[in-house]
Amino acid sequence: MCGIVGYIGTKKATPILVDGLLCLEYRGYDSAGIATLEKNEIKVMKDKGRVNNLYNLDGINTLEGTVGIAHTRWATHGKPSKENSHPHTDNSNTFAVVHNGIIENYLDLRTFLSSKGYTFFSQTDTEVIPNLIHYYFYNGSVSVLNDNKEKLLGAVKLAIQDLKGSYAIEVISPLCPNEIIVVRKDSPLVIGKGENENYIASDIPAILKYTKNFYLLDDNEFAVVSTNTISFFDNTLEEHNKTIKNIDWDANAAGKEGFDDYMLKEIFEQPTAIRETIGSRFSLGEKCSFDDIEISKEYLNNVNKIYIVACGTAMHAGLTGKTILENLCQIPTVVDIASEFRYRNPLIDEQTLCIYISQSGETADTIAALKLAKQKGAKTLAISNVIGSSITREADYSIYTHAGPEIAVASTKAYSSQVVLIAILAVYFAEILERCDKKIIERLKEDIIDLPSKVEKILDDTEIIKEFAKKVYTEKDMFFLGRGTDYNVALEGSLKLKEISYIHSEAYAAGELKHGPIALIENDVTVIGIITDSNLVEKSISNIQEVVTRGAKTLIITNQILPNSNFDFIINIPKTNFLISPILSVIPMQLIAYYIAKFKGLDVDKPRNLAKSVTVE
Ligand code: F6R
Repeated sequence: MCGIVGYIGTKKATPILVDGLLCLEYRGYDSAGIATLEKNEIKVMKDKGRVNNLYNLDGINTLEGTVGIAHTRWATHGKPSKENSHPHTDNSNTFAVVHNGIIENYLDLRTFLSSKGYTFFSQTDTEVIPNLIHYYFYNGSVSVLNDNKEKLLGAVKLAIQDLKGSYAIEVISPLCPNEIIVVRKDSPLVIGKGENENYIASDIPAILKYTKNFYLLDDNEFAVVSTNTISFFDNTLEEHNKTIKNIDWDANAAGKEGFDDYMLKEIFEQPTAIRETIGSRFSLGEKCSFDDIEISKEYLNNVNKIYIVACGTAMHAGLTGKTILENLCQIPTVVDIASEFRYRNPLIDEQTLCIYISQSGETADTIAALKLAKQKGAKTLAISNVIGSSITREADYSIYTHAGPEIAVASTKAYSSQVVLIAILAVYFAEILERCDKKIIERLKEDIIDLPSKVEKILDDTEIIKEFAKKVYTEKDMFFLGRGTDYNVALEGSLKLKEISYIHSEAYAAGELKHGPIALIENDVTVIGIITDSNLVEKSISNIQEVVTRGAKTLIITNQILPNSNFDFIINIPKTNFLISPILSVIPMQLIAYYIAKFKGLDVDKPRNLAKSVTVE
């Protein structure tokens, strides 16, 4: 998804902007560009392709400006091309803009501006923005003002009043050479405070190496950023103070630290990430507590349904969350895909608790689904990895996974931390509700505490996984089978494989196989089975036998002693409570997808067509 960087200070802006864009590559993009203020004019350098290509553009080395904005574009309106890349300028090259998000009514705005004599050179929705700013700067109510700064801020405000959709916008102009104006709605934007310099970015990691002090811009909030000051305004341009946040992430944690890829690094970070997620939320023999939330028994007793809403991998974490919550709290729990939930007119009211899971906290569908539940009177609880992300600012309660920055597009450590956090949340609720046997809760706590060392054990020996990946990386199709929580992991394993290896795969509840999908099983097809629930071993084995009989090649991931072993590969993982076994069984799945993609020579961290943070619908 598109990324934004901005710099204003005393140093040359270009290297800082390009460096920031490189940090944002993980979001997925197809073009990149920068604009700097050079002796009273805007210079734009942009093209389709990689950020590093910017250094090959004619004239880039001559840029001296200390004020600039930058962008990586992920095409939505118009194909990847130089013309469609950001920054975009107005017809007179007086205002340059970068924009994340989507302007839904851009065609109407184009028609309006065309009628006023403006011409368009790209197919993008964004190009209307600098032209609208130009229009209002010279024709709007602000055009009579004498101060260019006030005039530009006023023109930006009038322009965005016309926009329907989502945006995070940076604006520069030689008419205000000492300021960058920014505003956001439903798309993230942060401002990093430095000494005699300030930074802007859509994502914290892009500027983390320069500062740990951040202002997190709110929806409909404007900021005027200069070298030494940052001023904030509401949507009526009333100025207000804002609290700075210290973001305690280690800048190195956003680097690869010797691993070939971010994804592999993040897979291996899971023991640490899980330890951080557990943090001080509980210890054995003591009741679980959260610093960030306090929920009463009276409220929980009144909850008659829980909805877990999320997208992709986060939704898969929610599926396991459902099983844990229902087992421990006896509250019916429904898991829904955010993009479905928001248009389904879901049956929710004051007695529903809606839990939203999002690593980035910026997923457009998840945020919209959360707003919908609030409108219907439900209480909302956000689970996110990013402190201060949009979803956490909207929700009634927010809790964090603390897994550290996840850079690779394919989510790994965020998933395991999400499942751990929901398990802890379920324990917390269960201890308040007192509907579940204390011994069961205490045993689950022990198992949660033991998870990091068990994950380490799996990561200690990955040879068999590599060997399997080498055998199957040329395949076209694969199948994943499991029952109960093993089915949830099958879904996640299949998603990981699709996203980074581009191998078509399907996940099925093992018992469902004979109702249709078994027709696809033929000689030599690869089937991966997960068997970790002792109550379901026999059932799962007989389902997998059905594919063995039809000539499938099988890999079984299990923590059980299997009665027969006519499977081609077996990966043994440590035993744990079946409720949280997905946290262990997912590790081989992540590694299978990773090594298959590597054997295919693919870009593991930046798979095609995918974005890290999906901030559009
Ligand atoms: C898959 C993946 C995606 C995300 C989904 C939601 O590896 O990363 O499926 O899980 O786009 O993203 P967040 O959690 O940021 O809301």
